[in-house]
Amino acid sequence: MTIRDLQRQAVDSIKRHALTISLRSPRAQAHVLTEYLWSEEGAESTVLERVTPDAPEWLDKLIRRQLLDEQRHASLLRGRLAELGVTVTRPPPQLLKVKLWWLDRVCEPYKTAFAAGPIVVLLAAAAQLEATGVRMFSRHLGVLEERAPADPTTEIIRSIVGDEKRHAKSCRAAALRLVREDERALFDELCDKIAAIDRALGITISIGFWVVLAASAVRDRVAPANLEIKAAA
Ligand SMILES: [Fe+2]
Ligand SMILES: [Fe+2]
Repeated sequence: MTIRDLQRQAVDSIKRHALTISLRSPRAQAHVLTEYLWSEEGAESTVLERVTPDAPEWLDKLIRRQLLDEQRHASLLRGRLAELGVTVTRPPPQLLKVKLWWLDRVCEPYKTAFAAGPIVVLLAAAAQLEATGVRMFSRHLGVLEERAPADPTTEIIRSIVGDEKRHAKSCRAAALRLVREDERALFDELCDKIAAIDRALGITISIGFWVVLAASAVRDRVAPANLEIKAAA
């Protein structure tokens, strides 16, 4: 087993445990859904919006459809948060801004490296963000299906993860359609560097995630929030 596999397994176990804790805590559930909202309205949409000005027509259509999906995801999440009594969401933490800044910095030297232009780099970043979304939502769906299949959040996450799988595939396929054969090695190098950012921050983010959810669960035990959540199994 490689260090990468170990890192991925560690992140997965920490987050899975945190999500299990969240099932009995309305505060923790609201925190998780707010994080998803940051990714839907923040990173995913921001990168896709940057693609459209330089996109050929076929790609412009694809991105616009994807942006509509992201809006639908955000409104599903906002709706569920409202059901949980959360109408005002917190701004994203500094660490997420650091991640986007780092992503921009890593991508910068590649912006002039492809014949099709910087759009290739944006699509590579979008494909990685979407793939991260697939992992994040699939993990949560697994926990929900096993322990709280009747919770209204389960259906929402199921519907989002289906779209994210399609997005991850289509962003990568679109990038590859624009990359020339002789640029393929450079494209793979770029994708590796983008994926490394996720890995580098993975453990830090997952430990922070666990601490916040565990603290929320403790607060709910001490002073139950006045929020309605279907009891988990
Ligand atoms: Fe999304
Ligand atoms: Fe997406």
